[in-house]
Amino acid sequence: MNIYHEQARKVQFYLEDLFGRESSSLVNVRRNMDQMGLPPIQITPLIGKTLQLLIKIAGAKTILEIGTLGGYSAIWMAEALPTDGKLLTIEQNPLHCTAARANISAANLTEVVEVIEGEGLPLLEAMIQKGTALFDFIFLDADKSNYPHYLEPIIQLTRPGGLIVIDNLVRRGKVLSPGANDRQTQAVALLNQMIANDQRLESVILPTLVGYKGGDLDGISISRKRADCGAQ
Ligand code: DHB
Ligand code: MG
Repeated sequence: MNIYHEQARKVQFYLEDLFGRESSSLVNVRRNMDQMGLPPIQITPLIGKTLQLLIKIAGAKTILEIGTLGGYSAIWMAEALPTDGKLLTIEQNPLHCTAARANISAANLTEVVEVIEGEGLPLLEAMIQKGTALFDFIFLDADKSNYPHYLEPIIQLTRPGGLIVIDNLVRRGKVLSPGANDRQTQAVALLNQMIANDQRLESVILPTLVGYKGGDLDGISISRKRADCGAQ
């Protein structure tokens, strides 16, 4: 770890201390994830707080998440919803689904959060075919090698004026020149270009500090689907 990494870590924890206080439910979720052997790759508290602010600023009532893991990010988001809000979260790993359902139940959020077990892309296609009501807010944090394939269905499932947020778009700077065999980073770099060029969206990618030990450079996109986009 070099001096810049160490400094970045300290800055991350300094900011988390000021702005990233977890509810007791969220502290319990991390402990349960650890006990159940889930990987510690959940969003950071600063990203959780950012999601909460975006949800509240947008007045979002319906949220779709792709990539539940242990339910940590779903609980951050659900805590920002109004009492009549709903969050649907998709997870393909059965162990992760079990952990997430237990954590959501322990957080008293079973009325708000529904975990759907299955693969993201087919489930999104089925929702589009069914004419599911469009979402106010969509958060993507799933399998990185499929990231470019998620963008189109996600845009279609977002209401005009709604928000799309995507995690892990810088990957410790590896997106600057993805390795020849690094399919995940290649996919992320392609998605970044797609986001930047999509005329239906107004977007930015903000750098973030992440990682189990902290101080790792990553990025998160925030996009607004244009209000004049039409439901398509
Ligand atoms: C990792 C981090 C993430 O936020 C994620 O969604 C997947 C993987 C990682 O650090 O490997
Ligand atoms: Mg992530």
